[in-house]
Amino acid sequence: MSNGRDGFAGSMGALMALVGSAVGLGNLWRFPYLMGNNGGAAFIIIYIAFVILLCVPIMLAEFSIGRRSQINAFSAMRSLAPGSKWGLIGVLFVLVAVLILSFYSVVGGWTMDYLFQSITFNLPEQTKAADTFSLCTSSTFRPLIFTSVFVILSSIILIAGVKDGIEKVAKIMMPLLFVIIIALAIKSSLLPGASKGLSFLLRPDFSAVNAQTILAALGQAFFSLSIGMGAIMTYGSYVRRSANILSITTATALADTLFALLAGLVIMPAVFAFGMSASEGPGLLFIVLPEVFSVFTGGGLFAILFFFAVFLAAISSAFSLLEVIVAYLSEELKISRRLSIFIASSVCLFLAVLCSLSQGALSEFKILGFTFFDLFDTLTANLLMPIGALLMVVFVGWKMRKPDFVDEITSAGKVRVKPIIYNTIYFIIKYIAPLAIITIMICGWL
Ligand code: PHE
Repeated sequence: MSNGRDGFAGSMGALMALVGSAVGLGNLWRFPYLMGNNGGAAFIIIYIAFVILLCVPIMLAEFSIGRRSQINAFSAMRSLAPGSKWGLIGVLFVLVAVLILSFYSVVGGWTMDYLFQSITFNLPEQTKAADTFSLCTSSTFRPLIFTSVFVILSSIILIAGVKDGIEKVAKIMMPLLFVIIIALAIKSSLLPGASKGLSFLLRPDFSAVNAQTILAALGQAFFSLSIGMGAIMTYGSYVRRSANILSITTATALADTLFALLAGLVIMPAVFAFGMSASEGPGLLFIVLPEVFSVFTGGGLFAILFFFAVFLAAISSAFSLLEVIVAYLSEELKISRRLSIFIASSVCLFLAVLCSLSQGALSEFKILGFTFFDLFDTLTANLLMPIGALLMVVFVGWKMRKPDFVDEITSAGKVRVKPIIYNTIYFIIKYIAPLAIITIMICGWL
């Protein structure tokens, strides 16, 4: 890139990397179980409304800050508003990246364990799925081994850098991931008895919706799109000045939402076809699907494909989280990239141990009623990411000058965007998004 920094070679690569960050365990693991707990189709409708009306503009705001500053998320706002207090927000971003990565790698570890078991054809018989899940998650050492492997693999990809690591890997992984998930969705919706699951996805039950549901949907939208904590900002800073950020953002949001719906289509029909409950909670993906795979012919092979897909999705999100921390360490503290990766992954691994143990040995240890794992998960998605997103939109709407924002959206006039489009987006960023985030957070938390 012009300033000698590593960066994405092209728009397609940037898009694949962003989709890689967005599509992840949020879509495959978190979305289905939240939807199962919160009224199925009703949750989906609220979620999609948030993505279109709020999240695309918020993502653009974050992207603009990143690309304009061309620096890591810790310093991006400071470099655009030198001498102001805005720079302090960078600390929040790096902190949130550390917290998310800590519990995320634990679930990434479970995924690797399941992939390993499906490759060795060891996935459980129908009756034992719940036992397997507790073996994989609540033992002391087993999950830690897989979690460490997961973190090490993410680190290895990052060592190669942005263009040769992140971009190259994402360009191969993402198309593969979509092919696998589409095949699985078709297979699942053709299962006998799948129709109940399909109607759960299509018939909204608004009686299950309350302020908490709405906050959960907003938090999930932020989590799933990777917005509000500097990941999009960091990747944005690697995007060329000529790239069309409006189309990259829209395509990322579209792909992510489509993927979440496809994940719902894989999981819900199967849940209902086997007479299980959609409100199983975080174990939904890991308990229900192995049972499904164990009863149909060729299920073993499907299990391998499925957990391989979950693994691809998880790791491409994990290294985007790690990159937020690594970019900060290497650019701000002037530590070599390799050492930065080592430090960042060690810190996360240490916290991951706490998250992992809180599923077993430390399950009784609670802070404010939450285990470490739940605390990191809920705190980031429902509090810190909305706060991060709020600060970003206020920054772009009230601190940055409008012509600067328009300059980003139009890539300094190289990309034609109709004024009605950027004016509407700007209006949402300046007024609607801050009000909506504040209102939803107040109602959901109080
Ligand atoms: N979006 C990712 C997912 O859905 C998680 C993530 C959050 C990644 C924040 C990066 C930043 O799994």
